Amino acid sequence: MAQETNTAELQQDASSGELFLPTKHVLDKAIVTDFDALRERANQNPEAFWEEQARDLEWFSTWNTVKTWQPEIPKVEWFVGATCNITVNALDRHVKNGRGDKTAYRYIPEEGAEQPSSVSYKELLERVNRIANGLKSLGVIEGDRVTIYMALTPDLPAAMLACARLGAIHCVVYAGFSAPALKQRIEDSGSKVVISSDYGWRRGKKVDLAAIVKDATDGIACIEKQIIQQRGDAPLPEGALSLDELCAAQASECEPAVLSSEAPLFYLYTSGTTGKPKGICHVHGGYGVGTSYTQRIAFDLNEDDIYFCSADPGWITGHSYVVYGPLINGATVVLGEGALDFPDAGRWWKMVEEQKITIFYSTPTAIRALMRFGDEFPAKYDLSSLRILGSVGEPINPEAWLWFYKNIGHENCALIDTWWQTETGQFLISTVPSYPTKPGSPGKPYPGITAKVVNSQGEEVPRNEQGFLVIDSQWPAMMRTIFGDHERYAGYWQQIPGYYSVGDAAKMDEDGYIRVIGRTDDVMNVSGYRIGTAEVESALVSHPAVAESAVIGKPDPLKGESIKAFVILRVGFEASDDLAAALKKHVRVELSPIAMPGEIEFVPSLPKTRSGKIMRRVLKAKELGTATGDISTLED
Ligand code: WTA
Repeated sequence: MAQETNTAELQQDASSGELFLPTKHVLDKAIVTDFDALRERANQNPEAFWEEQARDLEWFSTWNTVKTWQPEIPKVEWFVGATCNITVNALDRHVKNGRGDKTAYRYIPEEGAEQPSSVSYKELLERVNRIANGLKSLGVIEGDRVTIYMALTPDLPAAMLACARLGAIHCVVYAGFSAPALKQRIEDSGSKVVISSDYGWRRGKKVDLAAIVKDATDGIACIEKQIIQQRGDAPLPEGALSLDELCAAQASECEPAVLSSEAPLFYLYTSGTTGKPKGICHVHGGYGVGTSYTQRIAFDLNEDDIYFCSADPGWITGHSYVVYGPLINGATVVLGEGALDFPDAGRWWKMVEEQKITIFYSTPTAIRALMRFGDEFPAKYDLSSLRILGSVGEPINPEAWLWFYKNIGHENCALIDTWWQTETGQFLISTVPSYPTKPGSPGKPYPGITAKVVNSQGEEVPRNEQGFLVIDSQWPAMMRTIFGDHERYAGYWQQIPGYYSVGDAAKMDEDGYIRVIGRTDDVMNVSGYRIGTAEVESALVSHPAVAESAVIGKPDPLKGESIKAFVILRVGFEASDDLAAALKKHVRVELSPIAMPGEIEFVPSLPKTRSGKIMRRVLKAKELGTATGDISTLED
């Protein structure tokens, strides 16, 4: 099945292609000093290279084969025959090596909310063990699924690790999703237990998470128990258990389950091109190797670093680079609950000054938002502790890149742009701090990774021409399946024969730097969040006034893309501003505030193929005033 790309509809940022070189401040702490040589060495024998990285971790027993790959299924396995438990590397190893008192997480609440706190590796291990024992007492065993829907405090990673300790599979759902979206994910995963917080903080207000869980679990057969992290003193809902009480009754030791390196660690739901989100499966062994190695080399993670990543663990960036990557490296991680501009747009910069953060990792949307508030906010704070800046989730436009580099990094920090996906588990394309960067380009394939820009037949396109970004190799942290739908997994290798298709359009320049242009499928990237057009459409058609809808992403200077919905009303309903507002609110409630359309247009019909498929690209081209491309399949 050949995909089509609509060159005209994809916006590309103008870029100077100028190279930025690392300063001494950065080079002094460089872990990888010759990125090109490392890539060359790794690519000569990727298996030997990854085996070398795996030896840095602890295993109960080691592998007999580094990798097997059966493309016809497709099935990949890494460190075959080995046994391990990712929590041993994230926790026990540090305690055993005398680093138990080092801070694992520093929790920074929204101003005026909770008290800040810190948890050491030793304390985190104890908390994890107590939660694990608590889960065990409720009958949770290896392979069971547990949904986690929590506010951003150290108990969120603790709950994830507790599942992993037992070999149970965590399914974290971002606590910004609404009840129907949470319900869909709980049901798809067949979770036995749901762990939530009573509330989270957002701009000085409490968000009632327990109420959302109640709506989501009403009448769900699979859920046997609900556990609540009680931050306030509201009474527990009937039948629910308090996380603290559950922990108090448990021992602080819990033997880690001895698991196959291929044992599933988590399912994380992400958006695809249908209305049904995909439960991306990652495993204990390879995922631990891939995330910890890339964490270390991308950020030059040294022993005394203070690391901040603005992602919530409800997303892959949180899984890989707030929880597993940093913990396996024994890092100190700052967790900041709440909004980036509350009480004002200096919040993060104040945090950098107070916590002496050295590595700061965030998204282009956040940077663009903070840039709009003006240079005076960062100028008020001492940001000299910073050494490495990072960006993830969407293409960063050179203007935002330069603002970040100058106003936050004071031209003395490396700025790393990391390209990867929920499916890839780890960074695949980026640079390392010692390597020259080009604003607007993530950089080059990481060691052991081969990336190409090809046409729909899989032939490489000339330099600086647009094509499909594909990966020609396997890597330890790649997804192993889509829970309950291996056929959908196989689809990634069927779009362009012989390759893993990532779904992005890209160009490679004369120096080998890759520039990612945007998605080529029906997935939008709104503020760095992946949202399927079909998910928003199905939320819209669940409203009684809507007969049909089609959704597109439009370029947006702040969010990267904004959502526009075209709606055909049912007979008896009149188009009006009030109805448009009601439909926006409906999507907010059904799916999530991040998926709410910014614009709704009522239309009498939608462009469709003769087989009835909505041609969103035709709508998009019309909206943007660009060429429609091939419309030979369009119904009159
Ligand atoms: C996009 C987020 C440009 C891309 C880690 C990819 C990026 C999708 C970058 C995956 C980047 C992510 N530059 N685009 N540095 N990082 N993307 O699964 O379209 O939420 O396919 O993973 O985000 O989104 P996901």
